[in-house]
Amino acid sequence: MSSKAIIVTGAASGLGQAAARALADNGYRIAALDLAAIDAAALPENANSYSVDVSETQAVDAICAQVAQDFGGIHGLVNCAGIVKGGKLVSRKGPHDAEAFKQVIAVNVFGTFNLMRAAGALMAENEPDTDGARGVIVNTSSIAAYDGQIGQIAYAASKGAVASMTLPAARDMASLGIRVVSIAPGIFDTPMLAGLPEDVRSALEATVPFPAKLADPADFGAMALHIFQNKTLNGEVIRLDGALRMAPQ
Ligand SMILES: NC(=O)c1ccc[n+]([C@@H]2O[C@H](COP(=O)([O-])OP(=O)(O)OC[C@H]3O[C@@H](n4cnc5c(N)ncnc54)[C@H](O)[C@@H]3O)[C@@H](O)[C@H]2O)c1
Repeated sequence: MSSKAIIVTGAASGLGQAAARALADNGYRIAALDLAAIDAAALPENANSYSVDVSETQAVDAICAQVAQDFGGIHGLVNCAGIVKGGKLVSRKGPHDAEAFKQVIAVNVFGTFNLMRAAGALMAENEPDTDGARGVIVNTSSIAAYDGQIGQIAYAASKGAVASMTLPAARDMASLGIRVVSIAPGIFDTPMLAGLPEDVRSALEATVPFPAKLADPADFGAMALHIFQNKTLNGEVIRLDGALRMAPQ
């Protein structure tokens, strides 16, 4: 599938940027989508960038159509756009902020679904390759889907939904020759975690059995690339976490 175009959301930063780079280094052309302005220097040479909020239905439909026109089709999607909002279900401040919960679900769950539906419909128009394949979708869940910590109820709910969409999405898309796989990362060294003080970073690193460090985003990129290359991988959520099982807190 090299030289084919792949949409990467959240490509301005962190895991999305790493996935875009790994795929571009292996010959794929990248449509980099993000809400934030994308620094051209941070993107691979063969990337086009597009500004969009993944939770906006019409805007995503329009951007996907634009990408298909610009690249002559879409053959892959990597959903990395995501947000985190912490808060306990009930704390001393009162009940969990309802709007914060809805925002996390809107971006992490609906945003992932929204891109799968819009880009998936365009992938379905591709001529199948000799294996009958028309495209690949990679979503980003989190180990919080399984080991949600205190204060992670919104994020864990959203990433659990991404994990549980994986199999039905793969089943829905099977007759179209489109595979759907999710990655559930542990703790990666991205801007999402960059604001943490050094002692908190060290404490986090010590919780990972091996390698006991914040993971390199390049390892996420390598996994995304592998999913594109491995024709049997489908309908699965892959933990990428150095054997980390998060404690309650
Ligand atoms: N970093 C980690 O340790 C880790 C662990 C598990 C899962 N994840 C998940 O991996 C994904 C990437 O995380 P990251 O660490 O690279 O974070 P990041 O904050 O560095 O990057 C996320 C990107 O998504 C973009 N984005 C946010 N809301 C958007 C929207 N509505 N529309 C379009 N783009 C939007 C942001 O602008 C940003 O560029 C997220 O889904 C995150 O939940 C990260």
